Amino acid sequence: MPLQELRHRHLLGLKTYGADEIALILHTAREFREVLDRPIRRVPTLRGVTVVNLFFEPSTRTRISFELAEKRLSADTVNFSASGSSVSKGETLKDTAQNIEAMKIDMVVVRHSSPGAPHFLTQCVDAAIINAGDGAHEHPTQALLDMLTITDHCGSLEGLNVSIIGDILHSRVVRSNIHGLLAMGANVTICGPNPLLPLHLDGMSPNGQVRVTHRLEEALEGADVAMALRIQMERQGRNLFPSTREYHEQYGIKLEHMNRYPDLKVMHPGPVNRGVELASEVVDHERAVILNQVTNGVAVRMAVLYLLSGRGGSE
Ligand code: CP
Repeated sequence: MPLQELRHRHLLGLKTYGADEIALILHTAREFREVLDRPIRRVPTLRGVTVVNLFFEPSTRTRISFELAEKRLSADTVNFSASGSSVSKGETLKDTAQNIEAMKIDMVVVRHSSPGAPHFLTQCVDAAIINAGDGAHEHPTQALLDMLTITDHCGSLEGLNVSIIGDILHSRVVRSNIHGLLAMGANVTICGPNPLLPLHLDGMSPNGQVRVTHRLEEALEGADVAMALRIQMERQGRNLFPSTREYHEQYGIKLEHMNRYPDLKVMHPGPVNRGVELASEVVDHERAVILNQVTNGVAVRMAVLYLLSGRGGSE
């Protein structure tokens, strides 16, 4: 019998989420997607629930889609940015969270540059915590919306070949996707230049299931999906490759690849550096599903908020 409730109280990452929990989130997201197609895109599901969006790092897609998801579910929402708050006067994450919780809130969505910040919050406050991206650790709702988008275009994840290309070292998206995709039975390849791959792949590739290659052609051959990752200039302490032009020559997905692999779907979590990870024509290509990913972000975040709110019977 399919799972009815999540076993987890928080969403800190996908590492500990089982296939049945991921399947429940994706199934719930598909149901909420129907709400988003109605003339009035709002349901009373989370009426009376208060959600705080704590963003200590910039965001466009994640922040707006969480806020939209909360509004579509009729939750009360409060938005917090580190700039303009008492964090700039030296207030700690713990004090910030406890002061916000003292105003009677139920759920916290947090993005932070420190890996583990969402886990730390679970020890400071009683609210349900949702990780909206913590450093290079995890970005679970991104991986969930990626998996929803893949199933829309390719059917079941079981046995599917997904290649993730680019700045693996600094990517929280790749970590969440590896956990989620492997749990759902997909085959994962990671590809990038040596300096952008982690020195030790053990944590990223439990039991060696993840295939590693430095050659783009090898990653694309036989792939159903190519997921390009943004080169994260802001997290690089030094130049890890000679130039973005050379990176594009060796690892950028170009129109010739779209022509050579006629069934290949291309994804990117955004924001895209056009002409670096993807040629501009590839970003706009009919088999690039980047905006579908963004659309699915709202439904996935509605599902996660609902399932962790306690309104669906979960703990
Ligand atoms: N994909 C993603 O996390 O984008 P934002 O940084 O704009 O939220």
